[in-house]
Amino acid sequence: MNELFSLEGDVAVVTGASGNLGPVWIQALLDYGASVLAIDRPESKDSNPFEDLPGGRDDERLAIVFADVRDKTALRAACGECIRRWGRPTVLVNNAGIDQPPKKRGKAWALEEIPLEANREILEVNTLGAFLVCQVFGSEMVKGKRGSIVNIGSLYASVSPDQRLYDHIPQDPPFLKPPAYGASKAALVNVTRYLATLWAPYGVRVNALSPGGVLGGQDDEFKRKFCSRVPMGRMATPEDLKGPLVFLASRASSYVTGIELRVDGGFTAW
Ligand SMILES: NC(=O)c1ccc[n+]([C@@H]2O[C@H](COP(=O)([O-])OP(=O)(O)OC[C@H]3O[C@@H](n4cnc5c(N)ncnc54)[C@H](O)[C@@H]3O)[C@@H](O)[C@H]2O)c1
Repeated sequence: MNELFSLEGDVAVVTGASGNLGPVWIQALLDYGASVLAIDRPESKDSNPFEDLPGGRDDERLAIVFADVRDKTALRAACGECIRRWGRPTVLVNNAGIDQPPKKRGKAWALEEIPLEANREILEVNTLGAFLVCQVFGSEMVKGKRGSIVNIGSLYASVSPDQRLYDHIPQDPPFLKPPAYGASKAALVNVTRYLATLWAPYGVRVNALSPGGVLGGQDDEFKRKFCSRVPMGRMATPEDLKGPLVFLASRASSYVTGIELRVDGGFTAW
């Protein structure tokens, strides 16, 4: 069984590497034997999210390069760096994404006032950026006739956010989860199906992994309301996400392509 899940000899690429979930995916891939090229945008250069990982940033199996997922030239350079170090990529975790959580919000908007630009940026990064990353790294997998791409979706690819989860937050007008977020993730799930069917003959599998709400600094009232909507009664922990990722990345899922694996404690089943 261990061999089925082994990533020994695999070359993995993880975008959005410096955020909350990037290091979780990276740790899982390293633990199962892969080398990992971590990518984040140039603005994140000063953060040091890998200090808790074994070997830190300079480990022989871990390197970080900086590229915006909307910049094809920079992505091509990152792909070149990957090939120089370890060879063609065989696993891609398309994880970079932006949202607009309440605490990061500078300004509150009523629905009819949400600027197009705010929606455009979310769609550009979460959908078009993820597509560009697939174009650059997935094409190398096609040439090598082997690969597994995991696009990170969200529970909001399938259902609308329940705005009541935020109604205790004192903001005028009230906080609204931006409509582009779920739209961008639903579109990414569909791009996943598109690429899965296109690249299946070339040995490249493409799936989506859609987490539910992951524990990480949310206020107590939000957590209480959110958990009451989850059949399993709790938010996801990083540990909950590692197994599904390794499953999709490895030979354990060798006949699985074009699916959305929801890791949401049953949220979207209710
Ligand atoms: N945390 C959750 O509860 C949750 C739930 C469902 C889905 N997700 C999805 O998981 C992924 C990771 O979420 P997270 O919580 O770690 O988010 P995060 O905001 O902590 O990290 C996102 C990372 O992406 C990077 N990034 C943003 N724009 C980029 C760009 N243009 N180019 C390159 N890198 C860019 C950021 O610098 C950051 O390091 C996202 O796609 C998110 O939508 C998260």
